[in-house]
Amino acid sequence: MIININPLRPEKDGIRRAAMAIRAGGLVAFPTETVYGLGADALNDAACRKIFLAKGRPADNPLIVHVSSVGMAEKLAYIPVALLPIIKRVWPSPLTFIVKKRTRLPDSVTASLDTVAIRMPAHPIALALIKEADTPIAAPSANLSGKPSPTDAKTVVKDLKKSVDVILDGGPTFFGIESTVIDLRDFTLLRPGPFTPEEIEKTFGVKPRIPTAAAADETDKPASPGMKYRHYAPDTKLVLFTGRIGDLIDTFSTIEKPVCLLASKETCTSIKNTNVKKIILGSRNDGYEVAKNLFTALRSIDDLGVDLAVAEAFQENGIWLAVMNRLRKACGNVELSSKEDLLELFFTKRL
Ligand code: TXA
Ligand code: MG
Repeated sequence: MIININPLRPEKDGIRRAAMAIRAGGLVAFPTETVYGLGADALNDAACRKIFLAKGRPADNPLIVHVSSVGMAEKLAYIPVALLPIIKRVWPSPLTFIVKKRTRLPDSVTASLDTVAIRMPAHPIALALIKEADTPIAAPSANLSGKPSPTDAKTVVKDLKKSVDVILDGGPTFFGIESTVIDLRDFTLLRPGPFTPEEIEKTFGVKPRIPTAAAADETDKPASPGMKYRHYAPDTKLVLFTGRIGDLIDTFSTIEKPVCLLASKETCTSIKNTNVKKIILGSRNDGYEVAKNLFTALRSIDDLGVDLAVAEAFQENGIWLAVMNRLRKACGNVELSSKEDLLELFFTKRL
């Protein structure tokens, strides 16, 4: 069942119906300020297992538990007392904390780790749903495992219609990219997101540790299990160009094969070549705009009927760090930095 619902003042009736589905052990897709989530009662093991089945998600990739109050979080986990005043100030926000769990949580939620990921989403629909269900809600992004997270209800329908009991359609999400995940035990940034490292440092007075992509991806037991899986990649071959922007523009201006370019508005407008299928991500001066468009852009590549796509790389601070993290994964870490490499790719398609 799809229920249209006002994102600013969610109607009680829709919330009540979705909350009843959660209480009955069902699955509810709902918007948060980041992306849509696929939710189940976090205290109901059987309900949470349905999430893994619906998404095709590996069982060793734990879920984020969503709460509507700090008190609810404290019942599930040991929140460091010294940090409580700051957390009370900073939540709700797109900031997920890894903390030591209490024993109440089912193993399916935490993939049997002794920690749990918890966040309080800054979205009226998500908060109303958790309050009405009167239980914490475990929710990963509401996409099939490996695909970009959904930023609207239409995409949730495409991926998960068969397995969801209720979809709350509250329109497009605000940030369009998943929450920042930080391990509160040592301030390791496990996933960059809309809450930037600079904001974390300002809020907590601690500079977050940023593991290199390799360290996060290649260990057998990565700090954040989700990091080791292939994510966001289209079926079309996608590579990241990290070289000079002038070289990217020159090469694409003369290319004689149909090829897709995923780039900023500025780069796209400087290229006048009808062989190039452009997907505009937003302005190079507005990382939040690019973040918001990124997942829809990635999903649209496969509709273009080309067999090669190249993405423009951006700087790596603030919100751009999150954008680049998702882009790198979408490209399967295939990066090119010179005009020669680009040309070779176009002419031989050898990677
Ligand atoms: O914005 C978001 O965070 C969205 C919305 C729906 O809230 N949710 C989301 O969930 O992105 P998901 O499951 O797609 O990503 C959860 C991430 C994964 O990378 C997972 O490995 C990590 O959080 N995670 C969960 N529990 C963890 C734990 N105990 N320790 C380390 N990482 C954990
Ligand atoms: Mg996800």
